Amino acid sequence: MEPGQLEALVATYGPDTWRIYDHLDVSLDPTGPDELFDIAADLIRPGDVVLDAGCRDASHLIELCRRHEINGIGVDPAPAHVEGATVAVTAAGLTSRVTLHQAMLEEAPVASGSVDLVWCRDVLEQVADLPSVLRGAARVLRPGGAMVVFTVVDNGLTDADRELLTHHRGVVTANLDPARLMAAYAAAGLLLEETIEIGTRWREYAEERTRPVSRKLLQLARLRRQRAQLTTTYGADALAHVEANLHWELWQFLGLTLPVVHVLWRERYPD
Ligand SMILES: C[S@@+](CC[C@H](N)C(=O)[O-])C[C@H]1O[C@@H](n2cnc3c(N)ncnc32)[C@H](O)[C@@H]1O
Repeated sequence: MEPGQLEALVATYGPDTWRIYDHLDVSLDPTGPDELFDIAADLIRPGDVVLDAGCRDASHLIELCRRHEINGIGVDPAPAHVEGATVAVTAAGLTSRVTLHQAMLEEAPVASGSVDLVWCRDVLEQVADLPSVLRGAARVLRPGGAMVVFTVVDNGLTDADRELLTHHRGVVTANLDPARLMAAYAAAGLLLEETIEIGTRWREYAEERTRPVSRKLLQLARLRRQRAQLTTTYGADALAHVEANLHWELWQFLGLTLPVVHVLWRERYPD
């Protein structure tokens, strides 16, 4: 045995090692995605008009209406989402306070300067034309109005990761570039007031409850072991999309992508 080898073995299997694992088994009580409502609360006053850009089933807009005396506008281009949103808004008894538009934000029939807050959660990663969407948000906001964005930015993906991500059918890889995002905010006349790094908190919150990423890792392992067979059955494109999507939260856990909240203001005196 080499000198020091036994000491190294003893340390590897010694009590401190297990104490560290025990320590790491203890939850840090991470905040969940409801944190975004708390962030937005500071920006909302009674009577405000709040627009949910990419509202999906309007669940967040409905919750905003429950928490605040506001009127809501939901915008989403997907017909199925707007249908679901219509049902949900009716069920919530909010038809007099919420208007829904099936449209892309940049083309939505919403009057310029008529909105106090744009809520934009988990959408900018997916939009085809980021500069137009942000100009659309700035257009509907009143001067001095606010925008709260939750999105995910590249924080050190490898070239191979980025290549894989190009096969994701929902995500636009270029939109994860933080420099491009900052430039698009500025070009739209949206001033970044604050960046809140969510990091792994919301992911830890979900994992501690339903373990979604553990399941995705298992699915990823099975995908890799059956790649040829699955490619024959479903096609290379579909498989590449699923493989990229199975990495999405994992990259967040590893810090290769970074979930962030941006609080922005529409310039009071745009050019
Ligand atoms: C990942 S989902 C997020 C939905 C919802 N905001 C949430 O947090 O659950 C992205 C949504 O953005 C919508 N979307 C895509 N492009 C858009 C655009 N240009 N304007 C508005 N919504 C858009 C999609 O239809 C989809 O509902």
